[in-house]
Amino acid sequence: MRARLEGDFERFRGELPADLAAHVRETYRIDLTARYLGFTLPHPIGKGSGQLSLNQEQLETDRAAGLAFVVLKTVIAEDAAGTRAMDAWAIHETRMRIEKVRSASGLDGWTVTWKGRGWDRSFDDYLELVRTAGDMTRSGPMVTVPSAKYHLPRMDEEFREGEYRHTTERLAGAWGGDFLPLEKDFSPTLAGDALAGERDRILRWLREVPGLIRRGAVCMPARIALKLMNARHGEPFQLDMVKAAGGADTLVCFNRLWSDARRVAYGGYDLSDRNLRVLEAVKASRLERPSLSGTGNVSSGRMILEYAKLGCESVQLHTFFQLPLSEYAATAGSRTQRALHALLFHPESGLIAGLLDLERSGRLHRRDGELRFLDVTDR
Ligand SMILES: Cc1cc2nc3c(=O)[nH]c(=O)nc-3n(C[C@H](O)[C@H](O)[C@H](O)COP(=O)(O)O)c2cc1C
Repeated sequence: MRARLEGDFERFRGELPADLAAHVRETYRIDLTARYLGFTLPHPIGKGSGQLSLNQEQLETDRAAGLAFVVLKTVIAEDAAGTRAMDAWAIHETRMRIEKVRSASGLDGWTVTWKGRGWDRSFDDYLELVRTAGDMTRSGPMVTVPSAKYHLPRMDEEFREGEYRHTTERLAGAWGGDFLPLEKDFSPTLAGDALAGERDRILRWLREVPGLIRRGAVCMPARIALKLMNARHGEPFQLDMVKAAGGADTLVCFNRLWSDARRVAYGGYDLSDRNLRVLEAVKASRLERPSLSGTGNVSSGRMILEYAKLGCESVQLHTFFQLPLSEYAATAGSRTQRALHALLFHPESGLIAGLLDLERSGRLHRRDGELRFLDVTDR
């Protein structure tokens, strides 16, 4: 198996097999089936919402590369009159900088420094992209879902339901099909904002937002993923947030950290260390919770398994798709392809190598001759 993996890693530097999951299943008897927001996926690797899912061309490239799913850039909700309560999040900024970042634990990782926020073009433009996403998902094999940020009130305010209704209805209409899959983003810039200064306010949002979106989707049911922020209130509060968000179908855990000093969001190992500590606490609490999708510094197959061991049935990456080309072992193809090559086939740090190690150490067993990725999340 090891020799075969080393052979595949070399062989696929230039091009990946057309059907990644089928190749892995045939060659290694490993079933990479994963899940996100009720969708069954051929493998667990997807793209988190952001600057890498802004247009059809990016989606086509990702589908050709073999990515399992993509979350579109977050749109800022509006009501029928075009008013956006979260208007401050619809700012335009193009410059992104990829930088090395050393964590408190002394590990070197990568972070993208960027001052932008949500979708900065018109809502109609976004709906056009959602139409493409719905069609693409239904014609398979890549799942593509929209993401939105809606009005979030202070304690003494009501939610602007008109905004929830109008935006959700229009997203559902554009998506087509018979249900609307949707991520609701609670971003690091929100975590850093005065609006998120009070714990009770955040818990109220998490309790009420899934119901507001469901009521807004009049023409079809909604499946809702809440992408939780890393709030500024410490790790025990992060567990309170997970408890409050029980009305969602899926939780995406957890968006980037907020640096008060630099006024920017950041990632690297500080992010994955914290996320994994909190997910450990979630697991230990044994609470009834929605299904989980992990995000934050997923930069190797081994890191996918760290999230999976704590219950994440898929992962969403952003930074690892933005590294300088010299950082990938692959020598051709899109960044998505090069990233998949490393994440799956790296003989030491890849997902296949990690699953084979779990088998060797007796922590994962074959069933009907196959190792199954989802068995890692069930333990
Ligand atoms: C430049 C940039 C823009 C992002 N924009 C969004 C966004 O609009 N909505 C959202 O939910 N997450 C957004 N994210 C968060 C990513 O989807 C991802 O969850 C996060 O960066 C952690 O993963 P990573 O460490 O692999 O980057 C953004 C991240 C980056 C780096």
